[in-house]
Amino acid sequence: MGRKSVKAKERKQKRKEENAKLAASSVKVEAANKIEDPLSMLEPFKKYERRGLSVLISCVKAGDMDKDTVDWVFDLTKKNMQTLQVFKLICNVLGYETSDWGWKDRDKRDEMTEDKAIYLLVRDTSDKLVAFVHFRFDLECDDEVVYCYEIQLIEEVRQKGLGKFLMQILELLAHKTEMKKVMLTVFKHNTEGYDFFTKTMKYEVDEISPEDPVFDESFSYVILSKKIQPRKTQQT
Ligand SMILES: CC(C)(COP(=O)(O)OP(=O)(O)OC[C@H]1O[C@@H](n2cnc3c(N)ncnc32)[C@H](O)[C@@H]1OP(=O)(O)O)[C@@H](O)C(=O)NCCC(=O)NCCS
Repeated sequence: MGRKSVKAKERKQKRKEENAKLAASSVKVEAANKIEDPLSMLEPFKKYERRGLSVLISCVKAGDMDKDTVDWVFDLTKKNMQTLQVFKLICNVLGYETSDWGWKDRDKRDEMTEDKAIYLLVRDTSDKLVAFVHFRFDLECDDEVVYCYEIQLIEEVRQKGLGKFLMQILELLAHKTEMKKVMLTVFKHNTEGYDFFTKTMKYEVDEISPEDPVFDESFSYVILSKKIQPRKTQQT
């Protein structure tokens, strides 16, 4: 038979490169998931004392979380989501289009307690939980990322810079573990959350987000992300 066409060779080469890239990304995600306490890489970030707040931050894998903490995380998420539902109803009454989103207790609990789930837990000086972040080191479309599944604060500790501080922790963890970006999904009707991520934290609509957040009403959520500067390789 004749020689393979140049195009076929190029395709093969491209496939090879893609496979090698995927393998390298998987290795990074695996390595990050093996770190017992990711926050141990960021000791100064275990405490937040600003604007009248004094809280301690710890990091725990979902599998090591006790039932009371799982219940608290679940209840706070549900409560905050229900507030959004009320907002959505008001929008509907006023005639604004809103898309639907579902909440199923069982599914949410399963998602929150999956092995890959990692939590930043925030406690005040009396050891009361006041906020949490659920995140994962994962592959998203073959890219190594930190995916922020949830960031939830009780009302009393909001607007004091804590949300920003927690997101900065995720970005630093992404940097330290060589993840490419931090990603998250936000409901479009959560205007406060959307503004927080886009205006304050400078997240942008990710290329895999299913639609244009402003013009297309067919999806209820937007996928946002922020690219993380790669670590400088050490000179020998
Ligand atoms: C969204 C949320 C995480 C923000 O955390 P936070 O601690 O309240 O925000 P911060 O105090 O760190 O805000 C930092 C900046 O973001 C901006 N910002 C915060 N909340 C905002 C809001 N509701 N609307 C507009 N801008 C806001 C402010 O400009 C603030 O700037 P400042 O530092 O000059 O005051 C928090 O309000 C929350 O848990 N909300 C309920 C749950 C939720 O919606 N989660 C996000 C989707 S998963």
